[in-house]
Amino acid sequence: LIWPIFVREGEDIEEPVASLPGINRLSVDRAVRAAEQAATLGIPCMAIFPYTDQADKNPEASEAWNTENLVCRTTRAIKAAVPGIGILLDVALDPYNSEGHDGLVRDGVIVNDETLEALARMALVQAEAGADILGPSDMMDGRVGALRRALEDAGHQDVLIMSYAAKYASSFYGPFRDAVGATGALKGDKKTYQMDPANSEEALREVALDIAEGADMVMVKPGMPYLDVCARVKAEFRVPTFAYQVSGEYAMLEAAAANGWLDRDRVIKESLLAFRRAGCDGILTYHAPRVAEILNTQC
Ligand code: PBG
Repeated sequence: LIWPIFVREGEDIEEPVASLPGINRLSVDRAVRAAEQAATLGIPCMAIFPYTDQADKNPEASEAWNTENLVCRTTRAIKAAVPGIGILLDVALDPYNSEGHDGLVRDGVIVNDETLEALARMALVQAEAGADILGPSDMMDGRVGALRRALEDAGHQDVLIMSYAAKYASSFYGPFRDAVGATGALKGDKKTYQMDPANSEEALREVALDIAEGADMVMVKPGMPYLDVCARVKAEFRVPTFAYQVSGEYAMLEAAAANGWLDRDRVIKESLLAFRRAGCDGILTYHAPRVAEILNTQC
C-alpha cells in the first residue's frame, strides 16, 4: 500500500483540494504528521507530490533539481521524524515546468533526450534527500536507463526504480493536475508521450523496455479501467506490479459515496480486491489510510 500525498509551502496548513474531497495540500510539518499517522496505521510507503508556486516554474523546470525544493525538504523532514517510512518520489518535470508538460518543450515539441538529462539531475537530488524509490512518470524513451546509470554513478545503487511503465494518456488525472497546480499551465495534451488508451500491446513493449533498462518494479496507471493491462503485465513478466488508483478514480468513488449512492468502505475494499485479483502486488491509492483502518479492524 502506497499513500500519495500533496505538499505545499507554509506552516500548519491543510488546504482542501476541491476535486478530491477529503484530501488536503499539506505544509511540510503536516506532511510529517501524516507520515506518523501512516506509520501508526502500518502503511509502508508514501508518495509525495508538490504544489509548486507559479514563481518557481520556468521553461527549464530548474526547480526540479533544486536540493531545497519542497519535495526534497519534505522527504528530509519525514525521514528525520519517521525513518521507517518508505518514500516514493515522482520523476517528471510537470510540477516545475511552466509549459505544464512532463518533458522540456522547445518550439512546441517535447524534446526527449534533453529531458533525460534534466530527469537524471532531478533523480539525484531526490536520492540525496532520502527517497527510497523513484518513480519516473514522464514516459520519455530511455529514461529508466538514464536514471539507473545516474544513480549508480553517484553511489545510489540501493535506490529502487518503480517505473510508470504503462501510463496512459488518461482523462482520469484531472483532479491530480488541480492538486499540483498544473491544470492552467498545460498546453495541449500528453498524447505524444503517454499511451493510447486503445492499445494494450504497447503496454507490454513499454514494460519490457523498462525492465531491460533496470526498473525494479513496474506500474500500470490508471488502475481500475486498466485491470486487463495489470493482469497481462503480471502474467507476462512476473515482476512486482503496482497499480495506481488515480485521482479521478478516487473522486468518482468519493462523489458517489458522498451522495449516498455507493457504500464507501465496501467499494474501496472491492476495488482493492480487484487489483489483487488482477495480479497486482501493490497499490497506490489516496484511500490508503482508510484501507489500512479497514484492514486493521478486520485482522
Ligand atoms: C505527473 C503525474 C501525473 C499523475 C502522477 N504523476 C499526472 C499526469 O501525468 O498528468 C497522476 C496521478 C493521479 O491522477 O492521481 N507526471
